[in-house]
Amino acid sequence: MAETIPDLRNVPKARAYAELQGHLDAILNGVDDEVASMATLAALLHHSFGHLWTGFYRVVEPGQLLRVGPYQGSLGCLDITFGRGVCGTAAAERKTLIVPDVEKYVGHITCDARARSEIVVPVLGRQGDLVAVLDVDSDRLNAFDAEDAHGLEQLVSRFAQ
Ligand code: SME
Repeated sequence: MAETIPDLRNVPKARAYAELQGHLDAILNGVDDEVASMATLAALLHHSFGHLWTGFYRVVEPGQLLRVGPYQGSLGCLDITFGRGVCGTAAAERKTLIVPDVEKYVGHITCDARARSEIVVPVLGRQGDLVAVLDVDSDRLNAFDAEDAHGLEQLVSRFAQ
């Protein structure tokens, strides 16, 4: 495989996400496997942007329970109930949540004490069903904005196709 992970830490976000999309499409061309796709996307995102934690929580009981899936970073919590923490809230509300300062988010679940900000994006499947959430954590305050929301939503839209 010729693809390598690009360094996008100093690239403007819109361009960075476009570049990442190109890598993802090239690597996953013809691949129809949820776990392989999640693992590849987590690795690409994590290392190209230098995030603290990047990965998926999968819906294992619809409306009830999320369980950790493919990820990169330090140990993630195993199970998260719908409605709990940032991940559980994004899952319950099926909407992208940006948390600029995790210490100010009531109910934030701390898996890594270095986490300062995070973004969680719902992942929809082919039937429009929620299959997972993508959680990205940073050790910097206010690391994520609307451009990240848009870029990440685009990247996970492949799970609905
Ligand atoms: N911070 C998340 C929990 C998952 S970890 O950070 C990997 C939350 O509040 O949902």
